[in-house]
Amino acid sequence: MPDKVSTVSPAPANGKDALRKIPDPCVVVIFGASGDLTARKLMPALFSLACEGLLPEHFAVVGVARSELDDDSFRQKVKEGIEKFSRLKPDECSAWPKFAEDLHYHQAAYDDPAGYMSLGKLLAKIDKKVGAGCNCLFYLSTPPLLYPVIVEQLGKVGLAQQTGDNWRRIIIEKPFGYDLPSAIELNRQVHEVFEESQVYRIDHYLGKETVQNLLVFRFANAIFEPLWNRNYIDHVQIMVSEDVGLGSRAGYYDTAGVMRDMVQNHLLQLFTLTAMEPPAEFNATSLRDEKVKVLKAVRPIRPEEVGKYTIRAQYRSYRDEKGVAPGTETATYTAIKLYIDNWRWRNVPFYLRSGKALPDKVTEISVQFRHVPHLMFPLAPGDQLPPNTLSLCLQPNEGIQLSFETKIPGAGMRTRSVDMTFLYEQDFGKNTLPDAYERLILDALQGDAALFTRGDEIELAWRIVDPILQGWQSKHAPSLIFYESGTWGPSKAEEFIKADGREWIYGCGMPQDGK
Ligand code: BG6
Repeated sequence: MPDKVSTVSPAPANGKDALRKIPDPCVVVIFGASGDLTARKLMPALFSLACEGLLPEHFAVVGVARSELDDDSFRQKVKEGIEKFSRLKPDECSAWPKFAEDLHYHQAAYDDPAGYMSLGKLLAKIDKKVGAGCNCLFYLSTPPLLYPVIVEQLGKVGLAQQTGDNWRRIIIEKPFGYDLPSAIELNRQVHEVFEESQVYRIDHYLGKETVQNLLVFRFANAIFEPLWNRNYIDHVQIMVSEDVGLGSRAGYYDTAGVMRDMVQNHLLQLFTLTAMEPPAEFNATSLRDEKVKVLKAVRPIRPEEVGKYTIRAQYRSYRDEKGVAPGTETATYTAIKLYIDNWRWRNVPFYLRSGKALPDKVTEISVQFRHVPHLMFPLAPGDQLPPNTLSLCLQPNEGIQLSFETKIPGAGMRTRSVDMTFLYEQDFGKNTLPDAYERLILDALQGDAALFTRGDEIELAWRIVDPILQGWQSKHAPSLIFYESGTWGPSKAEEFIKADGREWIYGCGMPQDGK
């Protein structure tokens, strides 16, 4: 029997599956076109969309950067990136020749008004050639310091201006701001030129299939939602562990650290999706309104409380990495306990944990339910049955696991935990998950901002993170602990959760050596 397929994507007016809706004719302009993100993610995503037939017929990409390149050398560079990083490769689909023809390069200094004038002329020329209908998506993939000047210059030459049915949109990469004041200021600068409805602040975690499935899991099934609250849930853990270290990003990372790099955005996004109330509709406004309500209800961790609610640690060889400041105190690992002061979650701790140079790359959300209220089966003195745990395995072994007690066959009533498991690969096949950037770029081209962060949301996230960072800079800071690369973080983090009578959950695969 074929599997039953239901469409739960937002039903567009024409009734077609939104994911198959082809965007309007348009041009994508990427600032930072010679950079790493463009080569590794943006171009591969655009190319995979082309292969899937999801780009409009009338389409072009303009790469803008300072490097000296011409159209042909840009195409060559893009092709190399696609061959290396794309889900779909040029020799696997027939889209490459047309895609290559639609690629253009524009060399410009980001603060030079002349470069924007000539960009305007180039766009008009391309528009005439491909018939892009003056629709334009700007993508800021430069160092964040350049965002204000690019936005300002786009405004000055009128490129942000929408006329009639033509749209102009802008995607802004993370990090959006360095702290709350800078995020507020950046929002202000952006809003001087673009209306909020034109702005798409990207957090690529929201483009991951498994993260979107968190919404489907919660709100397209009736069995879990009644349990999804303080009456049945003991606590929630959100873990994003990475096996990589700093790489070659010292300039950025040493000033960001795990808090700005991972918690302010990715972890808080997972947190809001786990905790939010059901939106009435799946659209940008309803979804983001609910996420905002969660952020507003977070009990603030005041700077003087950071020792109680947070751990900060650094992997031991971090200070030897090229480019970091001597004696740097940047945290590469953190564990945080957050509470949400609302009816659903009052006094249910959410433990957020992330670190670099850990044994494995794993992203998971584990929900631990409460113990049974009364146990009729006899246990050895001091024994307790493990509570049920639901683990949403976001990557790399994408799936969902539910642990529950089962009777061990044989005499007596002995029990053991077993798992009910869903694996994407088993049900949907290998390599079927599109890259997050494919989904998000397509959404932006279609004008759907549901999976992008709204201006107020980003500021609220900084409101949670800022006091912690301030505390870490103050006399109240918990001491920086060092952990060995390849271990699951400092033993202090074990004590942190043990003090609450709980343990770290590895629901999507047990920790290996080095714990
Ligand atoms: C980025 C961070 O936003 O996310 C990186 O800057 C991190 O430090 C990366 O490695 C993790 O993303 P993913 O998709 O590989 O989990």
